[in-house]
Amino acid sequence: MKPIRKAVFPVAGLGTRFLPATKAIPKEMLPIVDRPLIQYAVDEAREAGIEQMIFVTGRGKSAIEDHFDIAFELEKTMAERGKSLEVLEPTRLGPGNCAYVRQQEPLGLGHAIWCARDIVGDEPFAIFLPDEFMVGSPGCMKQMVEAYNRLGGNVISVLEVPHEAVSSYGVIAPGQSEGDTTEVLGLVEKPRVEDAPSNLIISGRYILQPEVMRTLESQEKGAGGEIQLTDAMARMIGTQPFHAVTFAGKRYDCGSKAGYVQANLAIALEREDMGEEIRAFALDLLK
Ligand code: UTP
Repeated sequence: MKPIRKAVFPVAGLGTRFLPATKAIPKEMLPIVDRPLIQYAVDEAREAGIEQMIFVTGRGKSAIEDHFDIAFELEKTMAERGKSLEVLEPTRLGPGNCAYVRQQEPLGLGHAIWCARDIVGDEPFAIFLPDEFMVGSPGCMKQMVEAYNRLGGNVISVLEVPHEAVSSYGVIAPGQSEGDTTEVLGLVEKPRVEDAPSNLIISGRYILQPEVMRTLESQEKGAGGEIQLTDAMARMIGTQPFHAVTFAGKRYDCGSKAGYVQANLAIALEREDMGEEIRAFALDLLK
């Protein structure tokens, strides 16, 4: 079984739900307290043993490249002033650890992943949607890699939502479960509530076999007129093992405004350097 060494981060979306904040700044650079969303996703990948980060970017996304580069002037000035550079340590991705590829038009998540096909090559790889913010220890991808090491094939993360909420997501048809893993018998993107096979939704983390790239290549547009990753994965079920892992942590949908504010509050409350202050403030505000 080949190890998971590469991760694809599709970051070429328009982020229209966050306008005007995302007019000039990528959605993935919005901070949760003081770290951008994309940094949390890269840290989660590193924790899972992933070595190469592949970013699928588009126009107006150069802040992401700058974020993971060396900031020469900033670092020199900070060093001269005796300030610690430790806080910048996780932002450094050397040339061997990152690659950037452009998606010229936002034709959908499936198309964004397909744009990375040459860099991914012929090996299984991980996908992170950075606006799905996963908090837990071990991290979501680490938990998934452990499942992959046992089961092989394809592994996706899922979570339960109220039945009436399924229409906004990719939904699985579950088979047998064992511990935190469930066999996946089918997948459908944004089903009507009455057609949904379960209330288990795909939650932004995937480990896929490279064959998905060939499946995407011949793919028609699906829900919303976009090339859907869910449709390509659905076509692979039956030809390869396919499992879902229920993440043992918390998930915040930071593609939505309410989820983003909740994530900021939750992380601020957990932080040693500010938790008490924010708790006192929040209690006061709610009085
Ligand atoms: P979303 O649908 O959540 O992102 O896609 P979006 O399109 O940027 O957001 P809204 O709905 O307009 O507010 C999930 C992930 O897939 C990427 C996005 O950047 C996000 O990380 N994506 C989506 C692409 O890279 N390319 C696409 O064509 C579509």
